[in-house]
Formats: sequence, C-alpha cells, structure tokens
Amino acid sequence: MTKSDEPGSKGKLNIGEVKSLKVEVLSETGWFDNEIIRKNMMDHGGMTTSQYEIPWDPDNAGGYSALITVVSLDDKETRILLDTGWSNEWMNYIFTEKSNVAGMLKNDQIDFMVLSHWHLDHFWGIESTLKHKPDITLYAPYTCYPEDMSLLKGERHLKVRNKAGQEVLICKNDTPHMGKLILCAPEGEENSGIYKLMPGVALKMFDVPIILRVRGENVLYFNIKDKGFVTVTGCGHPGVLSILSFARDNFEEYKAYGCYGGLHIAAFEQWDPKFDELIEEVKSFNMTKMGCNHCTGWIWAEKATTSGLPIIQGTDKYKTYTRHSTSNKGNHVFLTNGDSVVF
Ligand SMILES: [Fe+2]
Ligand SMILES: [Fe+2]
Repeated sequence: MTKSDEPGSKGKLNIGEVKSLKVEVLSETGWFDNEIIRKNMMDHGGMTTSQYEIPWDPDNAGGYSALITVVSLDDKETRILLDTGWSNEWMNYIFTEKSNVAGMLKNDQIDFMVLSHWHLDHFWGIESTLKHKPDITLYAPYTCYPEDMSLLKGERHLKVRNKAGQEVLICKNDTPHMGKLILCAPEGEENSGIYKLMPGVALKMFDVPIILRVRGENVLYFNIKDKGFVTVTGCGHPGVLSILSFARDNFEEYKAYGCYGGLHIAAFEQWDPKFDELIEEVKSFNMTKMGCNHCTGWIWAEKATTSGLPIIQGTDKYKTYTRHSTSNKGNHVFLTNGDSVVF
C-alpha cells in the first residue's frame, strides 16, 4: 500500500472501491444480562482486572459475530467472518441452527476471519469457528497476551475459582488454529497505517487501552462506489469520532456513508450528558445509514434516532432465537440477531 502521488491527494490513501457490502448480524448479544456481567466484574476486582481472572457466569455468555459479504466491482463475492462470539454453545447454535456459517466454513465459502479485539465476547468462542475450518486465515490485533495465544492454539481449558470456592470453566478450545495469523499493528503494511485486505477494503488497528486488560481494536473500512465509506466495528472501543476521523483524515476522496456494529457509548445503558454532544458530532459526518448494536446502548440509539441520526431499524427476527438480551426494548433501534443491512 502506498500513498497516492496524484496532485491534490495530499498524500492520502487510495484503497480502491467495492460495489456493495452486506452485513448479517449473526449475534450481537455478547451477553444476555447487563446486571450479571457487571456484578461478575465488580465482585472480582472491577473493570481493570484481566478477563482471564474472573469466574464469569457461563449461563450469561452469548457472543458477537457478523458475516460480511463484499461484492467487488467485477461482481466477485468475498465473505469475511468478523469475530467468533463467546460461548461455544451459543455460537454453535448461531452457526448451525440460525445461519449456515458452519457449512460455509466447511466448504471454504468464508475467505478469512477478522478478530476485532481480544475481548471474551468476541474471541472466546473461537472453537466454534475452528472446529469447521482450523486453517482459516485470521487477522487479529498484535496486542495479545499469552492466555489469548494458548486459547487460539487449542491448549486451554481455563477454570477460575468463584467466591464459593467452586471452579468455573470460563473458556476452552480443543481445535488449534492452523491457518495464517496476521497480527495487525498501528503501523500497518509498509508503514501505510492500514492493511489492504482487497480493493476497497482496509483494516486499521487502533492501539488503545480497553477494559478487562485488553488492548487494541481492528476496525474495517469499506469504500462503496458512488456512495462513500462504511465503517464496521466489533465494539468500537477507540471511539466513534476517532474511527470516523481516521477515515476522513487518511482516505482519498473520503465521504462518510455508513457504519455498522458496536459503538461502545452507553454499554451499560446509563446516560451521560456528554452523549448528547456526541450525537451532534456524529451528525457532522453526514452519514446516510447507521446500523448500531451491541455496546452502543439502546438508550443512545433511541436518543440518536429521535435526534435525527439515520439509525437503521431492526426487525422482530430476534424473537425466533432461544435467548434475548434483557436490554432489548423491542423498539427496533438496534440491528439485532437475524437482521442484516446492505450498504
Ligand atoms: Fe463486545
Ligand atoms: Fe469489547
């Protein structure tokens, strides 16, 4: 990847274009009950504790995962699995009964996987992907810990003692990853700052500190012909404004078109007055379609909708799933499980 020498480009990156982009919400319910996950954290050292030291309630584990289909300018389809959820049981249900991701993995119909970040609700369900395709190519943030690597290598059945002295199995993987692993750093390929995954698709690694001793998040950018840029995130921990500003400041002919994923704003559904200001700042990017879910917070998505941001409405498909989030208010401001969006 080289910066363009075209006059007037001011050294910005030209990533090329794609024809269209579809995102299917496999599961955005990282967990089902905010109060339980919050109590698990607070009872065991709080938000800065390592995620591998907390006896998480296994019954509250869900997972975040999305299936991305990119259509190139010459009509070729590329499928990307973004994240692999948390509970293997939940993800097996999602990949086999609520989608055909398992079949697609087995039949080599998914080209590669991108791990947004090493948080439990995005990564610990890795076995549910690897059991169908152990040699999948994986892009992940370089900021991993030995515990992350041993889980990826299929060496880990991690048990943690709870307050009652019982051992809780918090994560396990019996299928070692055998494929290519690309550990992404902020410098990108050839110091360009990004990884160009295919024409029109770029990955940027933001090296930011995140709760539960995690660091760094990979964010995807798609440049849709005649429309503009779409940002796809797992949790969006770097902050929505940093994510959008990166694209504005670094990509040639930038125009914001949309976004999909978690925007980590009101993750625990508590309002902060600064969120009103954030709505106004996001408005200044003039997006056309915003697909929000996961840690964005229903409370923020509701307010953003009434304030005029172009939040895409979800459907009632989630009701056909065996479990739902207790935060789901049924008002469709989230794209939730079973929904999809085309950009
Ligand atoms: Fe998450
Ligand atoms: Fe996260």
